[in-house]
Amino acid sequence: MRDQNAGTRRRKLGASFAVLALILAACQGGGAGDYPNQPITIVVPFAAGGPTDTVTRLIAEPMAADLGVEIVVQNVEGAGGTVAADQVANAEPDGYTVLMHHIGMSTAPTLYPDLSYDPLADFATIGLVTEVPMTFIGSPNFEPTTMEELITYVEENLDTVTYANAGIGAASQLCGLLFETATGLDLTEVPYEGTGPAMDDLLGDQVDFMCDQTTNTSEPILAGEVKAYAVTTPERVESLPDVPTTEEVGLTDLQVSVWHGLYVPAETPQEIVDALNAALVVAIQDEGVVTRLAELGTAPVPEDRATPEAHTELLQSQIDLWRPIIEEAGVTGS
Ligand code: MLT
Repeated sequence: MRDQNAGTRRRKLGASFAVLALILAACQGGGAGDYPNQPITIVVPFAAGGPTDTVTRLIAEPMAADLGVEIVVQNVEGAGGTVAADQVANAEPDGYTVLMHHIGMSTAPTLYPDLSYDPLADFATIGLVTEVPMTFIGSPNFEPTTMEELITYVEENLDTVTYANAGIGAASQLCGLLFETATGLDLTEVPYEGTGPAMDDLLGDQVDFMCDQTTNTSEPILAGEVKAYAVTTPERVESLPDVPTTEEVGLTDLQVSVWHGLYVPAETPQEIVDALNAALVVAIQDEGVVTRLAELGTAPVPEDRATPEAHTELLQSQIDLWRPIIEEAGVTGS
């Protein structure tokens, strides 16, 4: 005799299996609902001890506390930050691999015509973190003591003066390019894996000068360990009151500050982006973070800029801003 209820039982059994599969996936971390349930890695595209690393480690602590999991900072150096960005673009879109990057995210597409990723299409933005002024500094025994003297000295010693940067795509490389454009001088560049190691060599008089973020230069400037020639923002930096602006020393068009933001791979679920953004907002309001960044010549962005929308908008506008300047200078990394 035909079982009239067999179809209903099969459907019920199927539904039970589907529910079981969902529970299992959630237990294994397969769903966004239980995110995060394991350590998160923030990939930093430059060497440990440098300015990007410093900002990342500062915000990692309050973010970890908010998310309730450990955050591991991993330095993946190379090719001006593009090796790290490529790694994160190809990571699982599960929120456990996050990229911290800076202004270099916007210069890379022009500097590297064969770039393996698209900064806009291959990433989801989490939000902006901070904007950092840059400073021109010289090694302890480098002769020039002012920007005027520096320009004259470089002009007269073009073959021997060395300029440190963190590779093509680094903020220090962009700042050097702006210096070249403003002065008409062609610098002899010495590339490092980050301005952390570049600073070590500069302090040891192995390289002559560089333009680097105040998050790396404030302490040696205030300790009188390096020469400080100018800060690259329209206004002087509060914590470095004796350092003139580029405008004050006659380099009117040489202005740049280094914005930082967090990214995950493009396919990352929205709930994960929201969780990371909420943790970022907590971090930029953290008293310890605010105080330390002020000591280092900067501040977190206001909350309305720590959003995916503000971040994407800035990234797009900066790609458009830097493209003609880089093309005009004829610099390329590939
Ligand atoms: C770093 O962390 O080393 C940098 O941000 C270097 C740079 O971009 O100049």
